[in-house]
Amino acid sequence: MKQFKIAILPGDCIGPELMREALKVLGVIERRNRIKLALCEAPFGASAYFTDGHPFPETTRRLCAEADAVLKGPVGLSYDETQKIPTDLQPERGAILPLRKHLDTFANIRPVFLPKALAHFSPLKPEVIGAGIDIIMIRELVGGLYFGAKESGVNSEGLRYVKETLEYDEAQIARVARVAFDIANKRKRVLHNIHKSNVLKSSILWNTVMEEVGREYPQVEIRHQLVDSAATLLCLEPGQFDVMVMENMFGDILSDQGGGILGSLGLMPSACLGPRNAYYEPSHGSAPDIAGKNIANPYSMIGSVAMMLEHSLGMPEEARKVWAAIQQVFADGYTTPDLNRFGVGAKIIGTDAFGDRVVAALEARP
Ligand code: NAD
Ligand code: IPM
Ligand code: MN
Repeated sequence: MKQFKIAILPGDCIGPELMREALKVLGVIERRNRIKLALCEAPFGASAYFTDGHPFPETTRRLCAEADAVLKGPVGLSYDETQKIPTDLQPERGAILPLRKHLDTFANIRPVFLPKALAHFSPLKPEVIGAGIDIIMIRELVGGLYFGAKESGVNSEGLRYVKETLEYDEAQIARVARVAFDIANKRKRVLHNIHKSNVLKSSILWNTVMEEVGREYPQVEIRHQLVDSAATLLCLEPGQFDVMVMENMFGDILSDQGGGILGSLGLMPSACLGPRNAYYEPSHGSAPDIAGKNIANPYSMIGSVAMMLEHSLGMPEEARKVWAAIQQVFADGYTTPDLNRFGVGAKIIGTDAFGDRVVAALEARP
């Protein structure tokens, strides 16, 4: 019997609520594929800081490196609660970024997907959505401003100052470019390269290396798009985008805008892929405003399970069935409240009921 070891990091606030639903889905996959999933739960995030004194304890660090995959819920606290933790041990700086560096997960795949039939969930008009939104955003995840040199202090004029550097070398750009061209090559063969080369020198090198790697993929058209206007075009004409690639900070911002045009961040799963390791998490945060109410949308977490099945466990067929099962819940007229912003006439259900319905729909697809 095939065995997989999966590190389970439930995280903070809505993290554990979402993870429960993901584990139900994994239970179905395990039973019917006659595989053994060793699910190893470990502390991570603000909760780990309060129980173990560190948001990314050494035991969790080792587990993540040796596991076949890591499934992670969102971490973080409200702004006020975060201030109770020393800056460098806050879960974003103390856990997420070190996890990404530790596993070298340089390619962050964030699908932005809404079929035409669900256009009513989106704040965009159906005419704007057209045939549906189907974009893959690829975000470089271990470079740029997030990981560049930092310093702060008081300058010679007595003013407090801070300096953060946006650093990339050509190898870092080339490896994420290859991931993006590979994905574009399997889809519509158009890759939007998002940049700011009219101002940033980092974007000049970024674009040069994109072009160089692009020569290995003559069948894929590369279109350079400035990041600011890309933000507008995502709202005005999302259908023009298929695959988009960008540096770390641009990707952080544009991918949340992706959630915005769909109608909820709850529709944003993601995969973080490295040369040897991978981890899977919702693109959104821990949503302290709705934690403990059983109203968070588990799509992002269950979709992350689907991405794990495809990218780490070698089960693309099961991944497709999980996606289909999630869509079935919407097709049956149910949704969590985040997608009922405009009173779309759907039947509102909680986090747990949504997970149960995904499980039932999945079991109906043997
Ligand atoms: P957020 O993404 O947590 O929430 C933004 C809005 O989206 C909120 O109104 C929230 O209720 C809603 N939302 C998010 N996920 C949802 C879901 N699954 N279902 C329904 N609604 C959902 O952003 P924030 O409030 O700015 O950040 C909260 C905390 O999360 C911060 O501490 C931040 O640093 C952290 N964070 C963590 C991750 C991560 O773990 N990868 C990602 C982003 C933010
Ligand atoms: C995300 C989050 C993280 C990021 C934070 C919480 C470190 O916003 O995954 O998008 O900025 O990358
Ligand atoms: Mn973000």
